[in-house]
Amino acid sequence: MIYGKRMRLRALEKEDLHLYVEWVNDPDVRGGVAMYLPFSMYEEEKWYESTMAKPAAEHPMMIEVKEGDSWMPIGDCGFFTLDHRNRSGELGILIGRKDYWNQGYGSEAVQLLLEHGFNTLNLHRVYLRVFEDNKRAIRAYEKCGFIHEGHLRSAEYKDGKYVDVLFMSVLKEEWNNDR
Ligand SMILES: CC(C)(COP(=O)(O)OP(=O)(O)OC[C@H]1O[C@@H](n2cnc3c(N)ncnc32)[C@H](O)[C@@H]1OP(=O)(O)O)[C@@H](O)C(=O)NCCC(=O)NCCS
Repeated sequence: MIYGKRMRLRALEKEDLHLYVEWVNDPDVRGGVAMYLPFSMYEEEKWYESTMAKPAAEHPMMIEVKEGDSWMPIGDCGFFTLDHRNRSGELGILIGRKDYWNQGYGSEAVQLLLEHGFNTLNLHRVYLRVFEDNKRAIRAYEKCGFIHEGHLRSAEYKDGKYVDVLFMSVLKEEWNNDR
């Protein structure tokens, strides 16, 4: 487990997969990530098998918040790809429970992941991609110290128009754990 102030990150279990299917089939949640079709349990199980075949440090983790005496899953996060020679990793996050948005959980999970990336995985650079219309995500990343690096112009077609894909990153030496 990786513990934060209000949450913990734990390993993904096969029993969690139905939650993910539920979350990404919500158009508001899916709109922020690189998915655009209804998603089935069968596809999720195939994704799980291929993901579990990757190195353990690239497995997604469930984000859980404390509710009374138990822990409630609200989303997942992790590093999609790790480049050990360059000590660089691409971060991804999804809070599937919309009723938990805008309460600081996304940025808290990103901060935990940065701490894990820099202080456990010994990364030097963490980066991510985000659609330009995903203002909530951009703000959450800025709060965690990510800076805008550049963008791919009109790289994603969604909702009848093209949007830019922004690249953001934070280096270990500029990261501030006290945010
Ligand atoms: C993006 C996501 C992780 C953010 O999580 P969250 O818990 O809502 O984020 P936080 O509460 O930590 O921060 C959100 C910030 O955006 C702000 N915000 C919300 N809507 C906004 C908007 N339309 N424009 C500008 N800022 C906005 C909030 O006010 C908050 O900033 P503040 O703390 O300064 O007030 C979550 O919404 C999510 O998972 N969305 C669906 C999947 C997704 O888009 N993943 C990211 C892919 S790159």
